This record gives sequence, C-alpha cells and structure tokens, in this order.
Amino acid sequence: MAELSTAEPDTGPATGPEAGPDTVIATRALTKRFRGGQLAVDGLDLAVPAGSVFGFLGPNGSGKTTTIRMLMGLIEPTSGTARVLGQAMPRATRTVLPQVGALIEGPALYGFLSGRDNLLRYDSADPTADPRTRRARVAAALDRVGLTAAASKKAKAYSLGMKQRLGLAAALLQPRRLLVLDEPTNGLDPQGMREIRSLVRELASDGTTVFLSSHLLDEIEQVCSHAAVMARGRLIIQGPVAELAAGARGLLVVTTPDPGDAARVLKEQGMADVVVEEDRVTGEPPDRDLAEVNAALVSAGVRVRGFGLERASLEDAFVALTGEGFDVAG
Ligand SMILES: Nc1ncnc2c1ncn2[C@@H]1O[C@H](COP(=O)(O)OP(=O)(O)O)[C@@H](O)[C@H]1O
Ligand SMILES: [Mg+2]
Repeated sequence: MAELSTAEPDTGPATGPEAGPDTVIATRALTKRFRGGQLAVDGLDLAVPAGSVFGFLGPNGSGKTTTIRMLMGLIEPTSGTARVLGQAMPRATRTVLPQVGALIEGPALYGFLSGRDNLLRYDSADPTADPRTRRARVAAALDRVGLTAAASKKAKAYSLGMKQRLGLAAALLQPRRLLVLDEPTNGLDPQGMREIRSLVRELASDGTTVFLSSHLLDEIEQVCSHAAVMARGRLIIQGPVAELAAGARGLLVVTTPDPGDAARVLKEQGMADVVVEEDRVTGEPPDRDLAEVNAALVSAGVRVRGFGLERASLEDAFVALTGEGFDVAG
C-alpha cells in the first residue's frame, strides 16, 4: 500500500481521524478472513474513548469475538491495524496485555481445581503479581464477583454463570486501565446479569475503560455510555449511546382528537413518514424549531393534547440502519 506520509515511523500506522491519546482502542480497516474464506471482520474502524463503557453489539456471528481476539493479540489480522492503549497489536502484546483484564468466550479453567486455586494459579502466572499479596488479591476478586462462598468448590461443579464470574474474577485480580469482556453475562440468570452490570458501573466509576461485547441490545442500553453496532462483520454505527438511538429515528408524537388536520399541518411543517393511528400522529421530526410546529398546529385549530419526542431505542437504530430485525435471542 502506498503511504504518502512518513510522519509516524516509530508509532506504527496511523489509526484514523478519531484516534488520539484519549482513545484506548483504535482500529483501522481491521479485517479477518479465516482460512476457509469466511470474512469474519470486514474493514473495521473502531474508536473507544478512555473512560467509556463501550458496548460492542451485534448478533451472534457478527464478528465480535474475532475482533476481540485480534485486539488481544491472540490472532493476527488479515489486514488493517489495531492499537490498544496506544500500542500496535499484536506487536506490543507483551507490554499491553498486563494492563488489560480480559474475559474471552468461555474462560479457560482447570475443572479439577477449586475456584480459588484457579485464581491463585492464574495470579502466579502473572510475573508482575507480588506473591506475598496473592491470597488477599484472590480473596478480593472472589468477593467482588460473589464467589466467596463457592471458592472451595471444584470449578467443574460450577454452573455456567459461576464459571463466567470466575473468569471475570481473573480479569479483576489487578487494577487495570482497560477491561475487555466478551459477552460477560452469557449464561447468567437475570439476577447474575444485574450483578455484572453494577460491577461494570463500579469499575467504570473507578476510571477503568470497559469494552464489553453483547448480543443483547437492552443490556448495552442499560450499562454503556458508548456503543458500536456490528452486522455481518461490518461496523454499522458507533458513538455515544444516547446519540445513536436519538440520531437514528426519534419520533415526533402528537396526540389529538383531530388527527386528520394534524397530519396535514405536520406535513406542511415538513414532517416526513407521517403515520396516523387513532388519536396519535407520528413521524420524523421536521428540521425546525418544534415550538413553531406546535404553534402551527394550534393556530390551524388542531386540539393538541400531547406533543413530544419519543426517543428511539438502539433496536430502532439497528433496524433503521440494516433493514433487518435484531435477533434478540441470538
Ligand atoms: N476459527 C474460525 N475459523 C473459521 N471461521 C470462524 C472462526 N471463528 C469464527 N468464525 C466465523 O466468523 C464469524 C464471526 O464469528 P465471531 O467473531 O465468533 O462472532 P460473534 O462473536 O459476534 O458471535 C462467524 O461466521 C464464525 O462462524
Ligand atoms: Mg462471540
């Protein structure tokens, strides 16, 4: 590939316009084609701001785990670049990974060891971990994920949810700048999901950037400040969650006993996709001051009982952008 600029010979390839010192994960045209020819990730440009809880959302098979494995240096991209904490992966894997807590698709556990012994073993594999404080570190991590009572049980007797939490505990042994969690609530019951969400919020409030993947839309909406939506290996959209949903398809909703007149006036005011359902008229908000739109209704004699914007959900955004329903069940 022809490179005109040689401005950054030491820092590796540039990472796109949004990448800066406050970007903890930045990819550019990141692509993975598996040997069988499967294009799992296709030209991905991702920018994860420091301090965000970043939801990496997409149906099963959309390329989330493959992306995460490239970010963590576990597999090589076919093309494109990935930077994590400012360093190029997989080249800087050795320096970057100690600063990242990761839970990737079914943590590798020793079934014949207890939960606690799994963590002790995991901790001792970390050359930066002080052996004198190992037991305390492990106890704190077990406590944080609610596994203290089950710590002496063999991991093979754990439920899927408990295994998931044990994997999370392993990621929490050390304070990290970045946590990468691949479907952390997979296999958890609603109570377990709530616990993980509050844990994620807690970690984020300590300043840790959390990058988590999920195929569950509402989960992302509940916990994430930012999100990227994937479909078939491609990035559909990314940004602050509030903007993604609102920008996608906010609806202007007018409630009135005069829906016919209201629809006419609203069309004159520039509202698109006007739909009348009994006493409700909805449509895409016109690109003008909504106070004027409301005034126009009133001066045309329309009796306005309700007038407001209904926030679109991320699901609306996904459907609008892909023309497909989001497969909630995965
Ligand atoms: N090792 C592999 N070899 C071949 N194809 C793979 C491999 N891993 C994943 N895939 C394929 O790549 C696509 C994306 O998979 P994945 O990244 O696991 O998606 P997600 O995590 O979003 O469910 C899927 O079609 C999957 O079958
Ligand atoms: Mg996956």
